[in-house]
Amino acid sequence: MAEYARQRQTSIIVAILACLWVAIAGGASETTNVIPLPVASEAREGSFVITPATQVIAEGDASPESARLVEALAPAMGFPLTRAHAAPQEESAIRLHLDPALKGRLGEEGYELDVTTASIEIRAAGTAGLFYGVQTLRQLLPPAIFSEEKVDGVAWAVPCVRITDYPRFGWRGLLIDPARHFIPVRDVERFIDVMALHKFNRLQIHFTDDQGWRIEIKKYPGLVEIGSKMDFTAIAQPAESRGTDGRSLGGFYTQEEIRHLVRYAADRYITIVPEIEMPAHTGAAIVSYPQIGLYPEKLGALAPGQRWTANERVLAPRPQTAAFMQDVLAEVIELFQSHYIHIGGDEANIDHWRQCPEMQTLMASLNLKNVEELHSWFIRQMDMFLTSRGRQLIGWDEILQGGLAEGAVVMSWRGVEGGITAARAGHDVVMAPTSHTYFDYYQGPPETEPKAIGGDVPLAKVYAYEPIPAALTAEQAKHVLGGQGQLWGEFISTAGHRQYMTYPRAAALAEVLWSRPQDRDYDRFLIRLREHVKRLDVLGVNYRSKDLGE
Ligand code: ACM
Repeated sequence: MAEYARQRQTSIIVAILACLWVAIAGGASETTNVIPLPVASEAREGSFVITPATQVIAEGDASPESARLVEALAPAMGFPLTRAHAAPQEESAIRLHLDPALKGRLGEEGYELDVTTASIEIRAAGTAGLFYGVQTLRQLLPPAIFSEEKVDGVAWAVPCVRITDYPRFGWRGLLIDPARHFIPVRDVERFIDVMALHKFNRLQIHFTDDQGWRIEIKKYPGLVEIGSKMDFTAIAQPAESRGTDGRSLGGFYTQEEIRHLVRYAADRYITIVPEIEMPAHTGAAIVSYPQIGLYPEKLGALAPGQRWTANERVLAPRPQTAAFMQDVLAEVIELFQSHYIHIGGDEANIDHWRQCPEMQTLMASLNLKNVEELHSWFIRQMDMFLTSRGRQLIGWDEILQGGLAEGAVVMSWRGVEGGITAARAGHDVVMAPTSHTYFDYYQGPPETEPKAIGGDVPLAKVYAYEPIPAALTAEQAKHVLGGQGQLWGEFISTAGHRQYMTYPRAAALAEVLWSRPQDRDYDRFLIRLREHVKRLDVLGVNYRSKDLGE
């Protein structure tokens, strides 16, 4: 018995060592500790060492990316690399080569990275590909490269490797929620920085909700003058949704700050998708402008501080309210480059409409049979408006009720059914189900975790997520643009807590959305993750470490 146990133990150890060897030194694609896992990589002998003599050479139209590369490496190395347009082959060089002809093979976002003892070359069809190649290069360097201060005594060695890489999905998103707890501009920037390292390319910002309106709209200044001040709205909140710190929860972004953030994100190949909620989650807007609510006279007679408890937090979908929200969207369109504009659409208590005589009359005049159709009518007003301005509406899956607007994209959050229905009807979808992508949910036993809204979304579950529902045909599956992780903010009031809820789960999601599904292996992911968190350590990211194991 004892001998058998010993043999078994030995063979387990051998198997583990073999796995480790494959993970670290061999394997079809797992030669490095890069997250998300590249499509293909082939290890070679030796390494390339970056020194002050190394030149960065932009070939094609690659200058902006070469400037960003120099900028990214300089703080930790303590010297900026010299940029040049050409260098003799024998010189130590990092070449960024832009060649549109590579698009057929690598797509818009793919890249090839070739590291030999003599040079590093990144090739791509588009600048996004060069940027992602640079993100991989940063991960191949020692973790100290992520330091904002000069690090002495480190050889900036990159192991020789040849990587070919491109993403599985075009929508690789995260959502943040400054409506519930305002997030300072600086914290949004830091969030974007870490997203970019994981090759995310969409940041949905939930700018408006019952608890606050966080985006300046010039035509309706009251939205932020009144609607961004949580001090009175919070009075009516259940104690736990005040946040964990009890601090003032007010704040908003000026249009200038928004423009800055849009640029900041775009420089990192991240598109900010603005979310302006309607027709529900609009308590802050209704407090500011009672005429868009169901009972304006009742609210108008109250001081703003008393209006929150007295409002139904759902818009009255009159034509004038639709015009009001279109005015808002008109300014939003001017501020954001995103083709997709998110109008929320979720969790509308349309019973309030059912009970309102004025809404009954409105439905009759619009020839609508029920309140579901009224919901759909209102969303269609936004859809037509956005389409007329060359943009596309995206909303939570409740926008399916009463009939989906012609141009709409569906974000499926209440499971995957909404996504399946929409894809079958020929609409594009983004998968964001609570079951796997709600990062405001618990990631471990609630008694050992900071207070969260509920749920159970541990790291392994995120990693196991498959964004293409099995029920879709291959043709329908093409409508799945990708997926997104949600950091709803009811219980998240600090950057550190947000980081704790985001990482490492977002690292797992990044791999789900970027890497080939057949390469996904949780145990190997954990091996790479243990190295990856050293980068997060240097970046000062407060990730949750409990799942890393040994
Ligand atoms: C949602 O979580 N209500 C979209």
